[in-house]
Amino acid sequence: MALPPQFLDELRARTPLPAVIGRRVRLARSGRQWKGCCPFHGEKTPSFYVYDDHYHCFGCGAHGDAIGFVMQSQGAGFMEAVEQLAAEAGLEVPKPSPEAAEAERKRHDLVSVLDAANIAYQRRLHLPEGRAALDYLRGRGLTDEMIRHFGLGWSGEGRGALVAELKREGIEPDLLAEAGLLRGGEDGGRAGEFFFQRVMFPIRDRRGRVISFGGRTLGDGQPKYLNGPETALFSKRRNLYALDLARAARGAAVVVVEGYMDVIALHQAGFTGAVAPLGTALTEEQLEELWRLTPAPVLCFDGDAAGARAAARSADLALPLLAPDRTLRIAALPEGEDPDTLVRRQGSAGFQAVLDAARPLAEALYDLLREAGGERTPEQRAAFRTRLEGSARRIPDRALSDEYRATLLERFRAGRPGQWRPGQQRYGQQRFGQQGFGSQGFGYQGLGQQRPGQQQSPATRTAPRPVPNANRTVAERMRVLTAILLRHPNLLHDVEHAYAELNLLPPLDRLRHALLEWAHDGAHDGAHAADMLDSDALMSHLTVSGMTAEVGQALAAVPVPLPSCAGFDVMPAEAEAGWWHIFGFLNVDRLKQEVAMAEAAFANSMTPENQNRLMALKQALIKVESGEPDGIDQAA
Ligand code: UTP
Ligand code: MN
Repeated sequence: MALPPQFLDELRARTPLPAVIGRRVRLARSGRQWKGCCPFHGEKTPSFYVYDDHYHCFGCGAHGDAIGFVMQSQGAGFMEAVEQLAAEAGLEVPKPSPEAAEAERKRHDLVSVLDAANIAYQRRLHLPEGRAALDYLRGRGLTDEMIRHFGLGWSGEGRGALVAELKREGIEPDLLAEAGLLRGGEDGGRAGEFFFQRVMFPIRDRRGRVISFGGRTLGDGQPKYLNGPETALFSKRRNLYALDLARAARGAAVVVVEGYMDVIALHQAGFTGAVAPLGTALTEEQLEELWRLTPAPVLCFDGDAAGARAAARSADLALPLLAPDRTLRIAALPEGEDPDTLVRRQGSAGFQAVLDAARPLAEALYDLLREAGGERTPEQRAAFRTRLEGSARRIPDRALSDEYRATLLERFRAGRPGQWRPGQQRYGQQRFGQQGFGSQGFGYQGLGQQRPGQQQSPATRTAPRPVPNANRTVAERMRVLTAILLRHPNLLHDVEHAYAELNLLPPLDRLRHALLEWAHDGAHDGAHAADMLDSDALMSHLTVSGMTAEVGQALAAVPVPLPSCAGFDVMPAEAEAGWWHIFGFLNVDRLKQEVAMAEAAFANSMTPENQNRLMALKQALIKVESGEPDGIDQAA
C-alpha cells in the first residue's frame, strides 16, 4: 500500500538532507547549498550538490531526496529507507490498513474531481457567460497571466451545467458532493451546486493540488467570499492560500496578508511569497507551515485598531510556539489601504516600504501590550509590567523567554510609550536605534540565515523513486506502455515524443521503430489520418513486417497481466491517463513537462481536446506524485 503523502511530507520535513548526507560525505557550504565529492562515482573535485530537499551530482547525474539517498547509498528498498529515516526522526511509519488505503484512494478521487472542476471553471471564464467575471478581474488590474497563474474561473449560473459537464467526464454527482461542490439542501437550503455566479479562486494545498475553492460575488451579494466546506481533503485551519507558490518561490519574503485578491495583487507586483489564511484568523497549524518555510515570516495587518487587535491575537497565538529559529515579524499597512489597493496606488515600492518597516515580534509586542491598557497611572504601569512579564513567561524556550523578559522590561524602564503605527512611518525602528537595542540584541540577524535542513522539502517527488534493483519493473513498464499503444495507436500523436525518448531494449525498440514509422507514413499518405489510426490496421501492418513475435511478447499477459487501460474497450481518455500514469513512474520530470505544455495549450485554446488531454495528464501526475501503484511494480 502507498504511504499517506502527509506522512512522507512530514518525514522529509524532519529529515534535513544535508544532515543525512553529511554523515557519509564531507560537505562544505557553497552559497545556499552544500557541496562535496559524489559518493556514487569516484571523483576528486566536488560536483555533488546538496540542496534543502534534493541532491544532484553534475558528474554522474545521481539525483534524489533523503529517501532516494538512503536507497542509492545503501541499496535499500523504498520501505526500508522510509523505516530507517523514520526511526531516526522519531516518527512511526503508519501501518497499512484497508481503511487507510480506502481513505487514500478516496482522496485521489477527490483531487481529480476538484481538478476537473477547476479546469471547467477556467474554461467558462473565457466563454461568453464568463465575460462579466473576466472583465471584473481585468478591471481590478489583474493581468491575463496572473488570472491563468492562479487558475481563476467562473462558476457558471449554477443550474446544473457543471454537474452535467463533469458527468460527461465520468464524474458522478455523489463524488461532487464529497468534494464539496454540491450542497444537499437538508437544512432548508436549496440543493444544487455550491458555487454559482461567483468568480472562482482554486485553493491549493502545499503541494499545489486543488483542495477547494473560494468564490467571490461580482456584485454586492452576501457573503462576499464563500469558501468550500470542510471535506476529507480540505481543512481551513491547515492550509494557506498560495502556500504552494510561496514554497516554490524560494528566497522571496514570506508574508501573510488577509485576502485572496491581496495575495494575487502582491504576486503580480513581484512579492511571490505572499499567502493568506482561508477566511479565518491565523491558526497554530498555519504558523507551523510558515515556519517550515522561513524562521521569521511577516504578518501584515491593517493600520487601524482592528489591525492592532488582529496582530495582538497572532502574537498571543505565537508566544507558546516561539523558539530561537521560529519567530514573527509584524508589519502594519497605512490606514485605509489593503495590500491590493496599496500596490495599485503606489506600486511595488509602496509595499516594499511596509515590508522594510516590519518589526521584530518583541518590539511589536511591547506596543500591543501597552495599548491594551495604557500606562499613565502607577496602577496602569504596574498592570502593564505584569502583562509584559506574563507574555515572556509564555515562551517555553528558557533562553528565549529570558531574553524577551529582559528586552521588554528594559524598554519598560526606558518608559517612552510607543504606538501601533502604520509601518511606513518606521517609528519603532528609529526609537529602538536611539536606545541602543540594535537587532544584535535580539539575535534576529541570525534568524535570516539558512541552516541545513531547515526548509521543508517541496515534496515534488512523493513517488517512490525506482529502487536500484528495479530494472525488471522498468522493463515491464516499457513493455506495457508499448502494449497500450498497440491497442490504442490513436494515442500516438499525444505521447509520441515522450515514448520516443524512452530507453527501450532491442526487441521493444524494433517494435517501437516500426510503430512510429507506420504512424508517420500513415499521416503522410493520408491513408489513415491521425485520428483514424486503428489497432487492426496496425496489427496487420506489423504482421506483414514480420514482427509477430515481438507483438506477441509485448501483448503477453506475463510476467504482468496488462492493466485495464490496455483493453480494447476502454475510452481513449482512460487509456491515455493510464499510459501517463505508468510513464510517470519512469520519468516524472518529463510528465511534468507534458503537463506544463498541455496547460499552455489549454490556456491558449480551450478546446475539448486540449481539456481532455490536460485532464488525463494531470490525473496521471496526481497518481504518480501520491505514489498510487500502477499495478506493474508488484508483479515484476
Ligand atoms: P475582505 O472583505 O477584506 O476582502 O476579506 P478583500 O480581500 O479586500 O476582497 P476584495 O478586495 O473586496 O475582493 C478578506 C478575506 O476574508 C475572507 C476571504 O478569505 C477574503 O479574501 N472573507 C471575506 C470571507 O471568507 N467571507 C467574506 O464574506 C468576506
Ligand atoms: Mn481588497
